[in-house]
Amino acid sequence: MHYTTLGRTNLNVSIAGLGGGGHSRLGLRLGRSLDDALTVAKAAFDQGVNVFDTAQSYGTEPVIAKLLDTVPRDQIVISTKAGIGWTGPINCTADEYARTIDDRLTQLNTDYIDIMYIHGLHPDLVDDAMQTIVPVMQKARDAGKVRFIGVTEMFEHDFKHQMLQRVLPHDCFDVVMLGFNILNQTARQTVLPMIQKQNVGTMCMFAIRQALSDQARFKQTIKQLIDEGRIDPAMINANNPLDFLIQTPMSGNGSEGEGTSGAGGHADIVDACYRFCRDEPGMDIVLTGTSNTAHLAANLQSINAPALPREHRQRLIDIFQKVDHLSGD
Ligand SMILES: NC(=O)c1ccc[n+]([C@@H]2O[C@H](COP(=O)([O-])OP(=O)(O)OC[C@H]3O[C@@H](n4cnc5c(N)ncnc54)[C@H](OP(=O)(O)O)[C@@H]3O)[C@@H](O)[C@H]2O)c1
Repeated sequence: MHYTTLGRTNLNVSIAGLGGGGHSRLGLRLGRSLDDALTVAKAAFDQGVNVFDTAQSYGTEPVIAKLLDTVPRDQIVISTKAGIGWTGPINCTADEYARTIDDRLTQLNTDYIDIMYIHGLHPDLVDDAMQTIVPVMQKARDAGKVRFIGVTEMFEHDFKHQMLQRVLPHDCFDVVMLGFNILNQTARQTVLPMIQKQNVGTMCMFAIRQALSDQARFKQTIKQLIDEGRIDPAMINANNPLDFLIQTPMSGNGSEGEGTSGAGGHADIVDACYRFCRDEPGMDIVLTGTSNTAHLAANLQSINAPALPREHRQRLIDIFQKVDHLSGD
């Protein structure tokens, strides 16, 4: 596992973080038990992951609490989140949000949270959040209940990062969680430059959503993007999109033909997706959520694999440069 510094927090973090949300919620959403979910979390820790992301709404905070029975508290970075309403007006008072933070400590069975996020902040609620919620978070940070504060976006609605574009000029968050993947790379122009300038820590979500991991969905999406004139059909094989990524190994930044996840060849599209996100300048941590320990091991290997060959990376940038209205969900 490779490690990096999470922006201005100076936390030493694994470049892969375990996501407790997404469609699997460590398996809880599929009806698996808390112990099954704990097996996934322990496997991540055993493979060097030290970042565990969860949220009030995921139901996976108790899994992280259980993990703390066997893992020393200072060995892991825990991020959790609580929302303030999606469409507005905000659905809680300052006192209620302060109690929500205390509830997170109880659910996680810990006396501090490394990163407390506002969950899925709507662009129209930025002013309310600044006035009402951020002071509460700062107070919790001053009291030592929270070490760092952050905000996550609702990427499946906020494709162009409008919320972050409004929030970043306030320069009050230590960490942000943002959507980025092969299909939607808009963060590169809209927010990552300011994020890097402010040395804000980042967690990348949506590296693989269903439009990327499900091959039939992916093909359908590509056909639609060609029909809409957003992808030049000359740049992609509509019947087998991204075939160039999984053809015979080609020379990259390392040696040729190292195997499926080596410098040249890619195991599959999922492998390429994680590696593409990991290599984006400004992305500190790539999150991966799963119910499946085999998927976990493969994804951690991808996130830690050598960079994609430069020609592959550039081709992916060129193909999807006009796509700014999808999240990959
Ligand atoms: N607004 C927000 O704050 C927000 C929104 C979304 C996500 N998040 C956070 O970010 C994390 C990452 O989210 P994400 O959107 O990137 O989704 P994700 O949670 O990483 O989910 C990925 C999905 O793909 C499947 N998958 C994983 N590895 C696979 C593989 N190798 N092959 C095929 N399928 C695979 C998983 O199903 P299996 O169980 O079958 O592996 C899972 O359902 C979340 O878990 C959550 O912690 C936050």
